[in-house]
Amino acid sequence: MSDEEYTAGDVREGIPFVGAGPGDPGLLTVTGKELLERADLVVHAGSLVNSELLEAYCDHAELVNSVGKDLEELVPLMADAYHEGREVVRLHSGDPAIYGAALEQMDALEAEDVPTYFVPGVTSSFAASATLGTQLTLNEVANHVAFTRPQGKTLSEEEDHISDFVGMGDVTTCIYLGTHAVRETMDRLLADGHDPETPVAVVYHASWPDEDVITGTLETIADEVEEAGYRASALVLIGEAVTGAGYERSYLYGDWANRGSGSSEESEEGCSD
Ligand SMILES: C[S@@+](CC[C@H](N)C(=O)[O-])C[C@H]1O[C@@H](n2cnc3c(N)ncnc32)[C@H](O)[C@@H]1O
Repeated sequence: MSDEEYTAGDVREGIPFVGAGPGDPGLLTVTGKELLERADLVVHAGSLVNSELLEAYCDHAELVNSVGKDLEELVPLMADAYHEGREVVRLHSGDPAIYGAALEQMDALEAEDVPTYFVPGVTSSFAASATLGTQLTLNEVANHVAFTRPQGKTLSEEEDHISDFVGMGDVTTCIYLGTHAVRETMDRLLADGHDPETPVAVVYHASWPDEDVITGTLETIADEVEEAGYRASALVLIGEAVTGAGYERSYLYGDWANRGSGSSEESEEGCSD
C-alpha cells in the first residue's frame, strides 16, 4: 500500500508490532486496541504487558508469552500463523521502538514473506513523567531527554553514557532496564564528581495499579530503592526536571508569541505546545 493510500486506522497487510503502552489499558492507542480485538494470535512481552490489558482486549485470542523464546521459535510461530490466514499481533511493552528488539523480528519475518509494520505506543518514560506531574523537557531546566540504559551484559562500560548525559546539566536522563543497578549507577555518577544533590526519581510500574514513586538524590536514592525492594520494572529519571521546579515561563503564552504575526515565514524557534 502506498503512503498516499494509507490513512491511520486502515487495516494494513501484515503483522503489526504494537506498543501496548506502559501498563494502564487506557493508554493503549485506539489502533492498537482494534488490532488486538481482531487478533487470533497475540505474542506479548510477558510480565511487562499488564494482564488486565490482555484480559480486556484479547480474551478470544491465543496468547503466547515471548519471554524465554528465541527468534528461531518466535518467527516460525508468527509466520506460520500468518500464512494460515490468522490475524497475528506482536505486542511489545511501551513503544516497540524503545529497547524493544522489534526490527530483528520484523526483518526475519519479512524474509519469510510476512509484511510487518509498527503501531507506536506510550513509552514508560512518558507515563513516569505523568506520574511525577512534570515535563521531561522543561523551559530553562531541561532542553533535552536521553533514553538510555546502564552498562551490563548488553552494554559495555564505554557504551554507558549516563554520566555524560547527567554532566550536560540540561538533560533529563531516563534509564530503562536499570532498576537492579541503581546503586552501581549512582556510585559511578558520584565517583565522576556529579552533584550529590542532583534529583532522581524511580517510578515503579508507572500507570499500573501498584505504581510506586521513590524520590531522592544521587546520594540517597539507592538506599531507598533497596529498602523498597525493587529490582525490575522501574524507570530511573535523573535531572532537575524531575522536581518540576525552577522553570521559566515559556514564550508560548507571552507577548513573544504575537511578535511574528505579519511574517510569512514559519519557524519553530521558541515553540512548545
Ligand atoms: C525491555 S524495556 C522495554 C521498554 C518499553 N519498550 C517502553 O517503551 O517503555 C523494559 C524496561 O522498561 C521500563 N518499563 C517498562 N514499563 C514500565 C513501567 N510501566 N513503569 C516503569 N518502567 C517501565 C523498565 O525500566 C524495564 O526494565
